[in-house]
Amino acid sequence: MLNKDRMPKHVAIIMDGNGRWAKAKGLHRLAGHNAGMQSMKKIVDHSDKLGIKYLTVYAFSTENWKRSLDEISGIFKLLVKYVNSDLKGLVENNVKVKLLGDYSTIPGDAVKSLEKTIEATKYNTGLQFNIALNYGGRDEIKKALQCIAGEVKNGNIEPNDITEDMISSYMYTGSKFNDAPDPELIIRTGGELRLSNFLLWQSAYSELVFPDVLWPDFTPEEYEKAIADYQGRERRFGGRK
Ligand code: FPP
Repeated sequence: MLNKDRMPKHVAIIMDGNGRWAKAKGLHRLAGHNAGMQSMKKIVDHSDKLGIKYLTVYAFSTENWKRSLDEISGIFKLLVKYVNSDLKGLVENNVKVKLLGDYSTIPGDAVKSLEKTIEATKYNTGLQFNIALNYGGRDEIKKALQCIAGEVKNGNIEPNDITEDMISSYMYTGSKFNDAPDPELIIRTGGELRLSNFLLWQSAYSELVFPDVLWPDFTPEEYEKAIADYQGRERRFGGRK
């Protein structure tokens, strides 16, 4: 049973394993992403039910451009399909959609659909659903440094004025953009035990859970197990008991 008083406020997920799931079934990789999208929808719904305030999913990384054109355009088509067909449901469920990452280079129709969704859900007060698209943690830190260096150059601040909170504010999750706290829990499915350039700055004290299932097989039950695992851990933030 989950302890309602110890729910993480922010859960972030690396949705890995769609390709292997499809291969094991003799299907095209895109069938895996399609199944992954169905999983994602269930996890969005379930996050809302559990009272989680922020959910961030790693949908497309800065490295994912190395995949075949077919796969890339297929993933974006799925995304458009998702936001268009689920817009009504997202609005009704009070979900606020936000984007993390540099989406200037993603296909125009995907940007249009996403902007429409962001606009239509911007006053919602329930779950904030962050979709990380063309996102890379190092790229995010680099961009933050460029902005801060610009502030120093313009004489607005001195190097010694730079604080951790200031750096946080320039991250995509920071107060200048999407205003989400650091994730208490990061889940990665699919068997790899690494962060792969996801939320590098924000994950300093996150608990990491690696359920041994491929993303399309990640059910709300598996999600609750991962949260229970998190709740069973003691968070010390470098301090002692
Ligand atoms: C990782 O699996 C998954 C992705 C790179 C794409 C994530 C996409 C979805 C969950 C579906 C579409 C939803 C949105 C929001 C675009 P993989 O292909 O790396 O799997 P593998 O490691 O088994 O090959």
